[in-house]
Amino acid sequence: MKTEVLITGSNGQLGKTVFALHQGNNYKALNFTFTTKATLDISNQEQVDRYFQSNNFNYCINCAAYTAVDRAEEEKEEAFLINAIGARNLAEVCKKYGVILIHISTDFVFDGSKKEPYSETDIPNPINVYGASKLQGERNIQSILENYFIIRTSWLYSEFGNNFVKTMLRLGAEKEELHVVNDQIGSPTYAQDLVEVVLEIIISGNKKFGLYHFSNKGAISWFEFAQAVFKFGQISIKLNSIQTKNYPTPARRPKNSVLESSKIETAFKITTADWKNGLHQVIAKYYE
Ligand SMILES: NC(=O)c1ccc[n+]([C@@H]2O[C@H](COP(=O)([O-])OP(=O)(O)OC[C@H]3O[C@@H](n4cnc5c(N)ncnc54)[C@H](OP(=O)(O)O)[C@@H]3O)[C@@H](O)[C@H]2O)c1
Repeated sequence: MKTEVLITGSNGQLGKTVFALHQGNNYKALNFTFTTKATLDISNQEQVDRYFQSNNFNYCINCAAYTAVDRAEEEKEEAFLINAIGARNLAEVCKKYGVILIHISTDFVFDGSKKEPYSETDIPNPINVYGASKLQGERNIQSILENYFIIRTSWLYSEFGNNFVKTMLRLGAEKEELHVVNDQIGSPTYAQDLVEVVLEIIISGNKKFGLYHFSNKGAISWFEFAQAVFKFGQISIKLNSIQTKNYPTPARRPKNSVLESSKIETAFKITTADWKNGLHQVIAKYYE
């Protein structure tokens, strides 16, 4: 019998990555059900309960989220409705129907003041509404469930949806000069690498539940990330580094959001790729 896996938010970057991998035929032991906000709104408790009752899932991978970091400063209620209450709704039905929840969270739960990479034991202290809503989602899950995986990741990029790499490629074709911040450090993470880890957790049947960090190896600034995109994409543009204080945004960002991934590497015997590895593929697919 196949393992039944529900994907929420499958119109987003991560959800589309799961869909693409499932089409690749490598995961024959899994049967995926893809839902979008239109077919399964995780903030609607009744709908979520009915959906789980009438299906028989073994795992739920929650790819649904409110991810508009700047807009969240003004739409606090909406951000918490999806990221905190939505996560709680899923946790409640997962408990009721015996489903294992795999929830994706973020480096933005940290304030960025630490000088080294953040581990799972570091105390979160979000400095924006989005981070606070995601942290509340984590806490809601942890207070309801024992059988959960919460995986915090950072700086996701892929060929799908909206992300920094695609924005740079677009701007590189439109502009002659660009300014990018050089004093926020993180680990770009290829969405496919994250999804492969998530699916490996399911296939392995490993039940080492809990909170994990996963990002690709290496730590760079957004400026350095942009440099790499233009270099790999062979785009000629005048790129200037600026400081965050000269690029004000509605939401504050952590200065350091590098995540330490050794716990997940050890628990699931995985090797984490360098952040650059996926970049070549994404750029090639962008130009296809
Ligand atoms: N992107 C990053 O750099 C990054 C970094 C760290 C962590 N993460 C985390 O990674 C996860 C996936 O992010 P992503 O980049 O794939 O985000 P995304 O592209 O914004 O996708 C999120 C999806 O969730 C859907 N959604 C919103 N509200 C929903 C609801 N009430 N019910 C069901 N679906 C709903 C959205 O649909 P609509 O578009 O129709 O609203 C969208 O398709 C999130 O948990 C995010 O917090 C992302």
